[in-house]
Parts: sequence; structure tokens; C-alpha cells
Amino acid sequence: MKKALIALAVAGSFAMTSVTALAAPITIKFSHVVAENTPKGQMANKFKDLIAERMGDKVVVEVFPNSQLFGDNKVLEAMLLGDVQIAAPSLSKFKKYTKALQVDLPFLFKDMAAVERFQKSDAGVKLLTSLESKGLVGLGYLHNGLKQLSASKPLRTPADASKLKFRIMSSDVLAAQFEAVEAVPLKKPFSEVFTLLQTRAIDGQENTWSNIFSKKFFEVQPYITESNHGVLDYMVVTSAEFWNGMDADTRNGVQQALNEALVFGNEIAAQKAVEDRQKIIDSGRSEVLSLSDAERAQWVEAMKPVWKQFEGDIGADLIEAAAASNM
Ligand code: LMR
Repeated sequence: MKKALIALAVAGSFAMTSVTALAAPITIKFSHVVAENTPKGQMANKFKDLIAERMGDKVVVEVFPNSQLFGDNKVLEAMLLGDVQIAAPSLSKFKKYTKALQVDLPFLFKDMAAVERFQKSDAGVKLLTSLESKGLVGLGYLHNGLKQLSASKPLRTPADASKLKFRIMSSDVLAAQFEAVEAVPLKKPFSEVFTLLQTRAIDGQENTWSNIFSKKFFEVQPYITESNHGVLDYMVVTSAEFWNGMDADTRNGVQQALNEALVFGNEIAAQKAVEDRQKIIDSGRSEVLSLSDAERAQWVEAMKPVWKQFEGDIGADLIEAAAASNM
């Protein structure tokens, strides 16, 4: 009897092992639009490595950089269809899903430390749930950095931007920001920016040092104004269906790996903002212009009315909470 029981137990454990071995790992496709040598590119690769190291038998991460799988405008739709599991669009690209994330107002945050304080505050943490009703879950924030203005001519005052065409992300706030200086904003996917600049179909664009460097915008834009006028920050998102479909242990493991990858990505963001700026200066391809206090004050004054314009959409409380993080 005892022997029979042992035999059964052994057979059972073989069966269990083979079921585990046969169960296909969960695949997480992580789609993004930037190059690999950027904060988001590095973060995604780190996440993939951490998962492979710790949970390789259960979960596999595949990273698709450079809009290889989906571009800006399609990735969230694809996520809801189950064709991609993780993405980290810029906060400026969620307009179709929520108005609360439009905190890309000009001159809202004075530096990245203020952005970090805001995202860690109750208001910032709550924003991670702002996509719930659309079937999306916010898993965390990732920084890129402060945006600069690049153009085919030197931009020192708002009047210099008048009538110029600027590529913007799909954000009404950014459209209003350029309209406030009488420029012409054009919503275009990130993957098209280089060609639009190179062919002079547009005159300028706004982006961070790491995006301007990694996508070579500085090679086709003779001037970059160090305006630090806005923030490029990302929300890492997944679909509720995918997220809740994982068992709790797996979900916690994935979230833990992601949290660590985000800390790593934020460190890269801080480094790249300095290094890539310097590489651009050293290249001699683009002249980096700094603004005097008086010139900067003119940009602030011209763009500040955009806050009031979007107060109804974003919420006065949220704008106040964001602005308060500058203290
Ligand atoms: C852009 O479209 O300019 C950026 O959002 C790209 C990115 O993801 O950094």
C-alpha cells in the first residue's frame, strides 16, 4: 500500500512538472517609439533582463523600439485589442483616453525634481488610475526630461517663432502653447519628425536632449533654444484585461521588476539630459542658444494663458497640486 502511494505521488509530481514545463510563458510585448539609447529604451531593456533573470520560465518580455511594432497613435488601441501588453507613451499622448493627464502645460514644472515630487504626491499617484474606465492601468511614471525648442532659425523671443511650423505630439495643450506665440502647430507621429525637418516641411519641433540626439534632429536643425519650457514624461500602461488575467504572484513579480527598471530609467534620464546636450554642442551641427532672464520671461508671459484655457479640462486642483511641487 505504502509503495503504491509513493508510486502515485512520484507519478503525480512528474505529471505536475511536465504540465509546468509545457505551460507556455506569458509574453509581454513592450512597444515604444524611441531609440534604444534613451531613458525609455534603456528602461524597457532593463525590465526585459530583470524578468528573464527572475521569472524566465513564466514570463518573457519582447521589446520593440523605434515604432517597429506600433507608432504613437496606434499603440493604445492595439493594447486594448491584446496585440501589445506594455507601452509608455508620453503624457501628451493620452488625450483620447483622459483629459486629466494634460499636465504638459508650458512652464508648469521648474525642474525634474518637481515632477518627481508631484508624481509621488497623492494627486500624482491618483492619476495612475485615470485611465481605468477605458480599460487601461497605469503602472508607473518614467522621466525623460525638460523639452527644448529646435528650429531652422534662432528663437530668442516668442516673436521669432511667429508663423513657423512646429511638429507637436497629439496634445491640444501643446497646440495651444504654439498658437500662443502665433506659430503653427502640426500633430505628427514621432517616427516622421526627422524627415519633416530634413525636407523643411516643418520649421521646428520641441523635444528633450536625448530625443534630439538619438533621432539626429540636431543634424537637421541649426538652432536649439535651451528653453526648458515643458516636461516630457511617460506613463507605463497595460490593459486591465491582461493585468488582471495574471495570477497575483506573477503580477507582483512583474510590477517589482518594472519598479526597479523605472528607477534605473530615471537615473539614465538625468544622465542623458546632461550628456546628450553636451554631445550636441560638441558636434557643432547645431548652435545651442541660452535665454536671458528677460527673454525667458517673454516666453512665460506669452504661454502662461494656456493654463487658464485648460483649467476646466485638467482641473484647477490638479494644476495647483502640480505647481505646488515647485516649492
Ligand atoms: C515625441 O513624440 O516627441 C516623444 O513623445 C517621443 C517619446 O516617446 O519620447
